[in-house]
Amino acid sequence: MKYLYVINWKMNMSFNQSINFYKNNKNILEQLSNQFNEIIICPSFDALATISALLTTSTVKLGAQNCSEYPSGAYTGEVSVQSLAEIGITHCIVGHSERRTYFKETIETISKKIALLYQYKVQPIICIGQTTQAYQSKNTPAILEQQLASILTIVPPNQPVIIAYEPVFAIGTGMIPQQDHLENTFTWLAQYIKKNLAHNSFQLLYGGSVNPTTINTLKSISCINGFLIGSAGTDREKLQKIISEQ
Ligand code: PGA
Repeated sequence: MKYLYVINWKMNMSFNQSINFYKNNKNILEQLSNQFNEIIICPSFDALATISALLTTSTVKLGAQNCSEYPSGAYTGEVSVQSLAEIGITHCIVGHSERRTYFKETIETISKKIALLYQYKVQPIICIGQTTQAYQSKNTPAILEQQLASILTIVPPNQPVIIAYEPVFAIGTGMIPQQDHLENTFTWLAQYIKKNLAHNSFQLLYGGSVNPTTINTLKSISCINGFLIGSAGTDREKLQKIISEQ
């Protein structure tokens, strides 16, 4: 089955490590993406322009991990969506739980980023999720609805939507939610988005401890169109196993 794989290198690799990882694994990434998968690698800002120049003839795509909520101006240390678009970035992760937790990003900030990304034709990969406590309270749809409702209203007509569901307790822990929780959540997400979007062009990703041990279970869940991969994305062997798993 064809899946979308978004590989988030976070700040796990330095500039040199990112470039070397790409160069050393270029052929295998190319081969895996040619087998009908869509692969997007997301290095940190510093490596984007260099890797973009290396990807010109590749089917592998390039994403950023973040962007500024402001279009341009006196915002020291920020990177604009316009700059990302100019260097050939096609996708950008927004609203990752690490940004919500450590950098206090709010729905308002995330919404501004999403609107700018659509304006510059960079596809947002919008992360939503819930805490362990919320997971245990079995209230997932209500919590996700709070995050999704305003976001869906800013999607321009006919533009595709990519949503990544990432339960916080699953990120970097090796644990994934119960299978029935995943089935119910992804079925709910698909129905909710269909109901609230004027078109049907959306993809649902799962993120959080996607690795060679969990991928089999994850690929058995209906309505999952792809995966957001963190730590396993810095290990060629693990990545190959995840993508090749049928
Ligand atoms: P992980 O991270 O695969 O290391 O759990 C996923 C993510 O943060 O998107």
